[in-house]
Amino acid sequence: MKIIIIANRLPVKIEREEKGFCIVRSEGGLATGLGSLETESEIYWVGWPGIHTEDEEEKKEITEKLHEMNFHPVFLSANQIEYYYEGYSNSTIWPLCHYFFSYIEYKREYWQAYQEVNRLFCQESIPFIEKDDMIWVQDYQLMLLPKMLRTEKPDTNIGYFHHIPFPSYELFRVLPEREAVLEGLLGADLIGFHTHDYMRHFISAIYRVLDLNCSLDEINLRDRIVHVDAFPMGINYEQYHEAPGLPAVREKSEMLRKELGDTTVILSVDRLDYSKGILHRLQGFKQFLDNHPEYHEKVSLTMIVVPSRDSVDMYADLKTKIDQAIGEINGQYSRLGWTPIYYFYRSFSFEELIAMYDIAGIALVTPLRDGMNLVAKEYLATQNSHSGVLILSEMAGAAIELQDAIIINPNDSDEIERAILEALRMPEPEKRERLENMQKRISKQSVKKWANDFVEELQAIKVQNKEILQKIVGKRQLNQIKKAYDDATSRLILLDYDGTLAPFVKKPEDAVPSPRLMELLQKMSGDKRNKVVINSGRNRQILDRWFHGLELDFAAEHGMFYKENGQWHKNMQEKVEWDEEIIQIIQHTIDKTPRSYLEQKDASLVWHYRKVDVWLAELRAQQLINALIGPCSRLNLQIVPGNKIVEVKPPDFNKGSEVSRRLEKGSYDFVLAIGDDTTDEDMFRVLPPDGISIKVGNFSAAAKYRIPLQSSVIPFLSNLIQ
Ligand code: UDP
Ligand code: G6P
Repeated sequence: MKIIIIANRLPVKIEREEKGFCIVRSEGGLATGLGSLETESEIYWVGWPGIHTEDEEEKKEITEKLHEMNFHPVFLSANQIEYYYEGYSNSTIWPLCHYFFSYIEYKREYWQAYQEVNRLFCQESIPFIEKDDMIWVQDYQLMLLPKMLRTEKPDTNIGYFHHIPFPSYELFRVLPEREAVLEGLLGADLIGFHTHDYMRHFISAIYRVLDLNCSLDEINLRDRIVHVDAFPMGINYEQYHEAPGLPAVREKSEMLRKELGDTTVILSVDRLDYSKGILHRLQGFKQFLDNHPEYHEKVSLTMIVVPSRDSVDMYADLKTKIDQAIGEINGQYSRLGWTPIYYFYRSFSFEELIAMYDIAGIALVTPLRDGMNLVAKEYLATQNSHSGVLILSEMAGAAIELQDAIIINPNDSDEIERAILEALRMPEPEKRERLENMQKRISKQSVKKWANDFVEELQAIKVQNKEILQKIVGKRQLNQIKKAYDDATSRLILLDYDGTLAPFVKKPEDAVPSPRLMELLQKMSGDKRNKVVINSGRNRQILDRWFHGLELDFAAEHGMFYKENGQWHKNMQEKVEWDEEIIQIIQHTIDKTPRSYLEQKDASLVWHYRKVDVWLAELRAQQLINALIGPCSRLNLQIVPGNKIVEVKPPDFNKGSEVSRRLEKGSYDFVLAIGDDTTDEDMFRVLPPDGISIKVGNFSAAAKYRIPLQSSVIPFLSNLIQ
């Protein structure tokens, strides 16, 4: 098996030289992080080489060069670079995901180019995909690609990782192409984010925009489950930790030290990007200089800004503003022999960067929003000869792991000023303790572990999705079941009603059986070899009314009552007298949850919330269950969460106990149970070993087979009895 990483950018880029081309490392967290990944599996990369050429000879030369490194280049035209890369990727999605609402640009041609280039990446990748390979799509530039790949290679294991924040639904919903983007991502089996917050926002967008069924970290599709999880990306810790000792680095840091003398260096390293909070940082540093003249000539800020996307207007404007702000501060405070801000607008080599990290006493990392921020981790890893202090924005994904940093709100220049002071005055033992705690964490949470965790989870999902696929009742499975049915002489057929024989509707009393269903049940029960039982949570009265005239048996209210040979029987001796406290708890939930209501049956109480907003409903359901646990355990009642309901009932009977009772009384050579809800799983569990259990809707490990859609149930049963 090989891992095929598909990313907009390869970890190296091609640059033109006087004669020919050279290969240099790419900037940015994705390329540096993944570029230093070492795994047991062979890795193949597909991505843009960062150069524009229309010359076929040049393309050939570059391709050959890169193939030697297991990289396959995808060349983009000038138009595609402008509309797909600078346009939709970096002027629409990037500001959207980083909460820069007013920077978002919508243009029809951006979206067209985005689709076109995603298709191009798909075509370019297909020839490299072999059976059992794992495909790992990276980042926001390629959000449509998972679905495209799934269409071309349906059985492939596909993962996707989102390296930037995923915004709250309230922001994401403004994107005109929101459905297509989410559907594109759902082509993957596993979707990863750096933090659980981004994951939460994504799941909320999925159920609000696509109205799909989600349960915690899973999205249920017809034939697959898509898993969503948080994997905080790390760095190659050893590489950074050991790098300050490399002769080439030592030489550079000694030189820097000599030039800077006793000055404490505050370091910041960013790609040129408005999300990095560079101007806010400068404001904070200026304030520090304004208010603390005692530190003049003792402290300098070294700012490395790596050129990035400078042909996008917002980036070019930002560059001008940074130049101006630094010019003003240096103009105001510089003295002979001391410059407050050393500013580098260029890319650094690995050795130069490590030397900078090594000599810096403080790292000032203050993005306004950042998916993760690897610079913070790299800085910490390189601190082995002294204990540097990290000042870190709470808006960076890394802040979740690096709580021993001085955490600040990057919008607040007072906080930046205070944090610089705190870092400068921090006692040595405290510095050491904080650093060691963070180093311990990042040395364990390395980029290798990040990738291995992702790959392992993706492999496990592949196995699970295969199982899900095999359980779906298709032609082969139908034939198997039909053969058992045809060969049998005495059959017990147990049918759940809501969600199985009838679709869910907003008002439960409207879920009357269709003429097609009545006809089917008549035919089925007309066969003397069949004992057909509707095993439902509904009450007796409604079952009698709806199925009047049919020769069916029933079990009502989850096995509390049953009807045999036209007679109703009660499993319970006493009528349940509902405790006032329980009614009050449910009533309180109803008062706080508009569009929910209580159904009071003879033997159970049901709180219905089908029409309630998904998020609110989940919250209230959990709160209700928590509130009911005490009184229900005192009164020996069972709480059963079901499909958009929470039910309270005596524990002695359920759909399974009713099935057991019937199996003890009769002798059957074919037993089939079909249902959609968790309460139906009680039936599945008590079936004889050769019994046939079918789950309608989501996957369930308790059932042998699965019918994904309720609308396929009647056709299935009709085929069975034909
Ligand atoms: N970096 C680089 N060249 C430089 C300066 C920095 O390649 O001259 C790297 C740095 O080592 C880090 C990455 O760029 O790995 C920046 O990643 P980060 O996650 O901090 O931010 P991103 O660029 O992904 O937004
Ligand atoms: C961030 C993004 C990456 C991107 C990098 C550099 O880290 O998440 O996908 O590669 O910035 O940006 P660039 O536009 O130069 O590729």
